[in-house]
Amino acid sequence: MSNDATPVDGRHFRYIQEHTRPEDAFLLALKADAKARGIPPIWIAPEQANFVQILLKAVHALSVLEVGTLAGYAAIQMARALPPGGRVVTIELDPVRADFAREWAGKPESGVAGRVDVRTGSAGDVLATLGNGCFDAAFLDADKRNYPLYLEQARRLVRPGGLILVDNAFAFGQLFDESPTDPEAQAVRDFNDHMAAQIDLHGVIVPVGDGLWVAHTPGPKSTADDTRSR
Ligand SMILES: C[S@@+](CC[C@H](N)C(=O)[O-])C[C@H]1O[C@@H](n2cnc3c(N)ncnc32)[C@H](O)[C@@H]1O
Repeated sequence: MSNDATPVDGRHFRYIQEHTRPEDAFLLALKADAKARGIPPIWIAPEQANFVQILLKAVHALSVLEVGTLAGYAAIQMARALPPGGRVVTIELDPVRADFAREWAGKPESGVAGRVDVRTGSAGDVLATLGNGCFDAAFLDADKRNYPLYLEQARRLVRPGGLILVDNAFAFGQLFDESPTDPEAQAVRDFNDHMAAQIDLHGVIVPVGDGLWVAHTPGPKSTADDTRSR
């Protein structure tokens, strides 16, 4: 058997989308209202949301941290994967977006009313107020230049044996561009190198959406096993 991966292109991504559980009317309405109110459609893709939900279920997550709320799409999707009593704490710099997310997550039809806690403010400030090890998973999806800072905080905030997920490892499709037009593309490249160098984090970039880092935080029983292959 070859060690080479199967080359994938846009057709595979469309195929994956076509074979993903579709969004419900509530999420479609949220997106439409967000666009109508000037919020950019930069939320995660449905197949990525499904993948994250499966991961959260697999680790029996009860509490999740998100950095970068936007309209609350991912926060609601993640909250839906948690058992009763679960909660998502999500941080958003822009108060208009934070209010929008609060409004939509608070609707009874969201299925997660009262379980999404939107904190308005700069992530760096809000993260510093949160207690060690109080989350089962963290999803980082805000300003890319601060990803190393958010990773450092996530390592403190996520319990041993939890998950750290980081979006946009493919730099908005510009990972290999010689002259990327997106000003954050280089920050993503630098972060990917930084992330790969965290030898105690067992992480891999999963080619879903714009590339998702999935990393397992060192657990109480993790030893050389976690680093042997590095
Ligand atoms: C890509 S969007 C998040 C999308 C969301 N995770 C989803 O998939 O539904 C990134 C968000 O991070 C917010 N953001 C940027 N810098 C931030 C900061 N320093 N602190 C908190 N939020 C920030 C932006 O305002 C934006 O709404």
